[in-house]
Amino acid sequence: MKPAPTFHIFVCTGHKADGKEGTCHSRGSIAILEHLRQRARDEGLPIHVNETDCFRCGISGRGPNVVVYPQGVWYGALTVADADEIIESHFKCGRIVERLVLTFQPT
Ligand code: FES
Repeated sequence: MKPAPTFHIFVCTGHKADGKEGTCHSRGSIAILEHLRQRARDEGLPIHVNETDCFRCGISGRGPNVVVYPQGVWYGALTVADADEIIESHFKCGRIVERLVLTFQPT
């Protein structure tokens, strides 16, 4: 049996409840999702990558946004290069990438 992943990352691909494209989608979240999945697969990383719709907590304008568990760390305004940094620092070394962390009050 395959071991449980160490990390679980949810990537907003940004569709609103009304079906309209959200900010994360229009700013390239699909490329980030696909890149994370590709690296996880190619490198056998203990990461489970999931796509999700808008988080609906007042952070859409700061996208592309993701949340990483079990730490519950929110990252925002990501690029593909930022996703690489999260892999190298957070997932491989256990160091949260502070400069990308979103701080907010959920609405
Ligand atoms: S569109 Fe991504 S958090 Fe709302």
